[in-house]
Amino acid sequence: MSILVTGGAGYIGSHVVRVLENQGKKVVVVDNLSTGLPERVANSELIKCDIASESAVEIIAKTMKDHRVEAVVHLAALKQVGESVEKPELYFRENLGGMANLLEAARIGNVQKFVFSSSAATYGIPDAAIVDEDYECKPINPYGQTKLIGEWMTANATRAWGMRAVNLRYFNVAGAGWPDLADTATLNLVPIVFAALEAGEAPVVFGNDYATKDGSCIRDYVHVLDLAEAHVAALGYLDSDSRKYDTFNVGTGVGASVFDVLQQIALASGKKFDIEIKSRRAGDPPALSADVSRIKSELGWVAKRDLADIIDSAWKAKQG
Ligand code: WQD
Repeated sequence: MSILVTGGAGYIGSHVVRVLENQGKKVVVVDNLSTGLPERVANSELIKCDIASESAVEIIAKTMKDHRVEAVVHLAALKQVGESVEKPELYFRENLGGMANLLEAARIGNVQKFVFSSSAATYGIPDAAIVDEDYECKPINPYGQTKLIGEWMTANATRAWGMRAVNLRYFNVAGAGWPDLADTATLNLVPIVFAALEAGEAPVVFGNDYATKDGSCIRDYVHVLDLAEAHVAALGYLDSDSRKYDTFNVGTGVGASVFDVLQQIALASGKKFDIEIKSRRAGDPPALSADVSRIKSELGWVAKRDLADIIDSAWKAKQG
């Protein structure tokens, strides 16, 4: 029996793969390698496939049969908020078309366990700084909408043919569990600041006039290794026939500001640097952190690593 991980050659996906491999699980990775790196998953079978392509259902269903897949962990998706606003049709085709193909293949292969990579972006701009899973989801961009609709799709699969599923709403993921799995993209705060420092430029803070402790935005930064371990806990939860369907926030429950992150980067790097304050970025909630009581009570999962661990691990990985 094996576990199929879509997007398993990606930054987060490869951490999920490695944690599963280290537990002795057989893993098969499906990835189109548009951003994923095959060397990240050298110890697992890698099927190069775009899950949104016409032939995907046939390829994935065959892979599930050949590898006796018992569970799917689905991370493959486009994730750039800004790009999703510019190219919504691309995001709906890739993220939702891919999801539909994967669920169709799972039904053909009668794969009963499904863990879906959802996002805090489903909440949009809540008027609460800390949200639990029952908070009304009003995503404000196509990326967040594809994640919320993806949750509806897993719910419908559960109702239609009994697939058991968990949606994991990721908050802000950073850090590195192993240096070779570091985030190679510069799409989020931590890697963007690293790239600025490497270029000898001042990191930018988008707004310091928010009604927060220091004027900068608050987010819930979670270590990528903690996040990967949450996926394993979710698979364990689905082992029980009585567990049908649920949605969990994955965060630390502790908010950190942009200035907190920059201070942690100064400590980890030993660098002193100026900061450039720019105007607020459209679509940024002032504060967004996770209420993590449900994942603790249902999965027994709690983040073990704090902001210092996250930044230290990211910086060390960057040094190679
Ligand atoms: C974090 C904070 C910025 C860059 C992302 C994506 C998506 C989702 C959640 C998974 C914000 C500020 C950033 C910079 C800055 N994850 N910032 N200067 O927007 O919270 O959400 O994570 O689905 O990946 O939606 O993450 O890293 O872009 O920004 O001041 O150069 O850092 O304004 O407050 P975000 P982010």
